[in-house]
Amino acid sequence: MAKPENKKGTGSTTGSGAPASSDRNALTIGPDGPILLHDVHFLEQMAHFNREKVPERQPHAKGAGAFGVFKTTEDVSAYTKAALFRKGATTEMLARFSTVAGEAGSPDTWRDVRGFSLKFYTDEGNYDLVGNNTPIFFVRDPMKFPHFIRSQKRLPDSGLRDNHMQWDFWTNNPETAHQVTYLMGERGLPRTWRHMNGYGSHTYMWVNAAGDKFWVKYHFHTQQGMAFFSNQEAAAMAGADADFHRRDLFNAIVRGEHPSWILSVQVMPYAAAKTYRINPFDLTKTWPHADYPLIKVGTMTLNRNPENFFAQIEQAAFSPGNTVPGIGLSPDKMLLGRAFAYADAQRNRIGTNFHQLPVNQPKVPVNTYLFDGHMAYHHSGNAPVYATNSGGRSWADETGPAADGWEADGEMVRSAYTLRAEDDDFTQPGILVRKVFNDAQRAKLVDQVSGSLLGGVRGEVLKRAFQYWKNIDAEIGKRIEAKVQAGGAPKPAEGMGEG
Ligand code: HEM
Repeated sequence: MAKPENKKGTGSTTGSGAPASSDRNALTIGPDGPILLHDVHFLEQMAHFNREKVPERQPHAKGAGAFGVFKTTEDVSAYTKAALFRKGATTEMLARFSTVAGEAGSPDTWRDVRGFSLKFYTDEGNYDLVGNNTPIFFVRDPMKFPHFIRSQKRLPDSGLRDNHMQWDFWTNNPETAHQVTYLMGERGLPRTWRHMNGYGSHTYMWVNAAGDKFWVKYHFHTQQGMAFFSNQEAAAMAGADADFHRRDLFNAIVRGEHPSWILSVQVMPYAAAKTYRINPFDLTKTWPHADYPLIKVGTMTLNRNPENFFAQIEQAAFSPGNTVPGIGLSPDKMLLGRAFAYADAQRNRIGTNFHQLPVNQPKVPVNTYLFDGHMAYHHSGNAPVYATNSGGRSWADETGPAADGWEADGEMVRSAYTLRAEDDDFTQPGILVRKVFNDAQRAKLVDQVSGSLLGGVRGEVLKRAFQYWKNIDAEIGKRIEAKVQAGGAPKPAEGMGEG
């Protein structure tokens, strides 16, 4: 019998670069004896293995992504001076797609909203747009967000997902109606990530070279066409290939089929926001295209797979707070809450200096006074570590009105937004059901909602759910109620009291 090789190639090294002893056998006293504590290479392998995972993202844990380019094909200089949106500019970028509620190993084809995160490595620093495959969201006050996410995840006792808990949250918060209608419709089950649209969802600010401000909404339209799974197809795929969407994107790029999306924006003049009949900063509302038509900007194409999933996707850090000159936030309270949340999550999830990792690092020189901390790699040598200084290191010194700011005045309050003429929770989902969906889509919606309600929703929560749908559309609400009642007693779910 041939003797096994005791070394492959030039062997491996320890973390400190010295030749490693063996990747196959620990050091023992005799072939059958105990392992020795001074087998440093073995101990290093064991100890590092115990630390090789980082916490998963709290929401949007399961996902994947690819690198690509964004090309600005149109002249939008009237609205923004941002370098990446200058006609002819080509900007390297990264995209990550995800499900919201599932954990890192959960099936890609469970019904959910899909994340649509983009990082543009622009000439003026990184610009991140962290959106979804729907143009709106479930809630409009960031105080509700952790509660919303917990209601979609797992019960505290059994650790199970629970329809009753989901509907309890949704029906107690009627502003969820618009997004729940999208979620229960076809968009809740995209066939692949390549076949879905993406949206910035929030209203953002654009500022042009003259300093004029505009409000914008981003729409990325898939050039592969929208396509969806039926419930049956999605359920079968969840069993057959839990990583179907991840595999599909990776393999498409390997085959040279580079998916692309056209970016268009809706632009609202700055002053119009004050008097528009819908609060333009309410994240549960869309702006009718008849009022603000789409203006084309350019094309995003994904053309390069990650070489290392952990380094380039798991450790990627997207944040709605990462803006560049010519692009700003808006008075949308959700967006303002998010501006804090992401970098804070990433300091915890990845580490204090997460922005120094190659995937997160800007492609422009950095002169930051963020100093030291765990795993600091980039540094400013012996330059002054404080501003203002006399050592010649530059510092920022903007004063006066913020270039991307807006006016705010009034008493400090805890309150919902001031209501405008068309700010109720049910008008827009009603229009979606009656005017955008066709008969077949309405029938699927009724099936989907009644199926979900039959999955353990009971008591007051069930009654509220019927009323919720009747408020969206009286006819659809009646059909859902009739179908649930014909379906018999809902099966009891363990662990939660009557809502
Ligand atoms: C106040 C509301 C929200 C809060 C506090 C919040 C917070 C978070 C946090 C902490 C993460 C994990 C970040 C990380 O560990 O890297 C996350 C991920 C994500 N969120 Fe939110 N979120 C909010 C609303 C939204 C909305 C409205 C959208 C879409 C329009 C959205 C889309 C995403 C996406 C796509 C990801 C995954 C990012 C990635 O691919 O790495 N979130 N969110």
